[in-house]
Amino acid sequence: MAESENFCMVPYELADIDWDNLGFAITPTDYMYIMKCSEGQSFTKGELQRFGNIELSPAAGVLNYGQGLFEGLKAYRKHDGSILLFRPEEKCIAVDDGCRANVHAFTNNRTVPPPGKGSLYIRPLLMGSGAVLNLTPAPEYTFLIYVSPVGNFFQGIAPIHLVVETEVHRAMPGGTGGVKTIGNYASVLKAQTLAKAKGFTDVLYLDCVNKKYLEEVSSSNVFVVKGNIISTPAVKGTILPGVTRKSIIEIAQSQGFQVEERLVAVEELLNADEVFCTGTAVVISPVGSITYRDERVSYRNGGIGVVSQQLYSALTGLQMGLTEDKMDWIVE
Ligand code: COI
Repeated sequence: MAESENFCMVPYELADIDWDNLGFAITPTDYMYIMKCSEGQSFTKGELQRFGNIELSPAAGVLNYGQGLFEGLKAYRKHDGSILLFRPEEKCIAVDDGCRANVHAFTNNRTVPPPGKGSLYIRPLLMGSGAVLNLTPAPEYTFLIYVSPVGNFFQGIAPIHLVVETEVHRAMPGGTGGVKTIGNYASVLKAQTLAKAKGFTDVLYLDCVNKKYLEEVSSSNVFVVKGNIISTPAVKGTILPGVTRKSIIEIAQSQGFQVEERLVAVEELLNADEVFCTGTAVVISPVGSITYRDERVSYRNGGIGVVSQQLYSALTGLQMGLTEDKMDWIVE
């Protein structure tokens, strides 16, 4: 990474960050990382720049035709001051020795929350930044990473309340549901906003062909617990293959649970013991209730399920460096 000429300038005071009240919201940090790729060429050498607005043509592919992808990963600060990344290689972020020092600067070291107060959310973006009028791939793409200290996505491990959406669908076979294109997220906003207005935390979507199998929540994968069996929708193009999803499957198996990746019928919610959601942002969110066709089902009396709690503790223990990393998932 090359340093931009503004590298040493500090755009805001550290005291601006209220570590005790971090939500999942943007807090501007010192730097962002940018590189560009023009048609037929390789990416330019990336450089650190001060975090700030970027200039785009009004005809940019991302603005006109939704040519954008994003990812998310988190960095946690340990009590000894070191900073831990959780499975960065799964997000195609290679952290070798040579770039470790730069990564340290890039992750805006001083904006990684103190242990137990949250994490630094790292948001890579890829967007069509070149100008197009016709519907065609943009002649230039920009890869950008910005970061923001965040607290909990929902209220910690407090239970969330979902409504099953029967009319609007998040993804379709042959579509882009299985990748993090920006359009997947724009398309759920209306259903999500209406659900929130009715007091639900979020929406659980069904498949658009049979309208009977579980897909995802707006920004997380879903798991259903019945006895020793934990089931989750199989990844077949319409389900995002989340890294937290994958990690929870492996942790659950290592704890003796039988994990099934398959079609999960919506009726299975009616007699499940527990339901929980997973994602980089949400980590693990236990589901307190689900409403389907005006019928509300509560789990564990609307409280936190024991399995959700157990898996949450195992995952966050690893992410925060509190437990031994036998899986080799942590990069310091
Ligand atoms: C993530 O888990 O990183 C996400 O993509 C969630 C985001 C839509 C808020």
